[in-house]
Amino acid sequence: MRPFEIKKDIYWVGALDWSERDFHNFTTPRGLTYNSYLILDEMITLIDAVKHKFVEDLVEKVEKLVDLSKIKYIVINHIEPDHASGLSDILKLAKDAEIVCSQRAKDGLCKYSDCDGWKIKVVKGGDQLKIGKRTLTFVDMTMLHWPDSMAVYVEEDKILFSNDAFGQHIASEGRFDGDVDDPVYWAKMYYANILMPLSGLIKKKLEELKNLKIEMIAPSHGIVWKNPSKILEAYKKWADFESENKLVIVYDTMWNSTEMLAKAIADGAGSVGAKVYLFHVRKTSFTEIVTEILDAKAIAVGSPTLHNSVFPTIAGFLTYLKSLRPQKKKALAFGSYGWNGVGIKEVHSLLQEMKLECLEPLMVRYKPKKDEIEKAFNLGVELVK
Ligand code: FEO
Repeated sequence: MRPFEIKKDIYWVGALDWSERDFHNFTTPRGLTYNSYLILDEMITLIDAVKHKFVEDLVEKVEKLVDLSKIKYIVINHIEPDHASGLSDILKLAKDAEIVCSQRAKDGLCKYSDCDGWKIKVVKGGDQLKIGKRTLTFVDMTMLHWPDSMAVYVEEDKILFSNDAFGQHIASEGRFDGDVDDPVYWAKMYYANILMPLSGLIKKKLEELKNLKIEMIAPSHGIVWKNPSKILEAYKKWADFESENKLVIVYDTMWNSTEMLAKAIADGAGSVGAKVYLFHVRKTSFTEIVTEILDAKAIAVGSPTLHNSVFPTIAGFLTYLKSLRPQKKKALAFGSYGWNGVGIKEVHSLLQEMKLECLEPLMVRYKPKKDEIEKAFNLGVELVK
């Protein structure tokens, strides 16, 4: 693939990982992108490296534009290996390049690699670096996504190189938001699974970003936002946990009794016009489930009791969900049991620990009878009321 000019003299030189389906447990049904950008100015600047496996892809693209030895700066916005593990190999060709990064990034880079002999310029939020006609302004992005993270704003082009923020895990030939179907959905999946726990910080950051005139956002994953207002509005909604009239039901089942309850709850919510997503936890990825939970008004989690405990698949799911710190949702624990309902009680306590607005759990012995199905139906109504 060739370099792609996203603005005059600014090129995408990243890599596409079409076949990867797992990014540290994030299911990626359409692959991944590791974006890197080359700014051709008096001091040639590379923004972000790529995952080690894709260095050759980057080098091939850069060489079509300029010899790598001419690169003056390599900005490392974030040290996570998807953006920085290719750096040491790139430096073998870009021998004179100086790395530009935050202090925490410098510390981290020198843990991941032997950085003896590397030239590293440490910058902080608000610092500027003139590279010719353009000036780079560094934007502090602490914890978005790691403590070392930062972004780069180029006022002359009104472009924000945002690294993880505003990214999406998708591989595509097209480089802009108009080139893929529903880019906001892919950004939502990324937000829900990577950024949801950082929503408080994101709200503050969105306010700060209003001080910059941004006409393009170029993240380090996925497509470039030519129309940034669309994604900025979506981020505001997600960071505020604005919800739709929607119920997400997640369950596992041993002898279909918990499943019968799940379906009755779904019927109840559907009967009053709510959108309903019903997920068998062993048949849908956690990634897809939490994408729908992000903007749901309510969740219901169903577990049978197994060996005096919650069903292990549901325990795993709830551990993941808890780490993402969902907010502003009603919640219900439900399930069937044989001789004690410990599994359902454990689901209820985990939902309470997440500080969700929990209804009393629905516990049904063995198989639900008609009145118990009706109770489940009514709880479905109540969850979305
Ligand atoms: Fe895309 Fe936090 O790395």
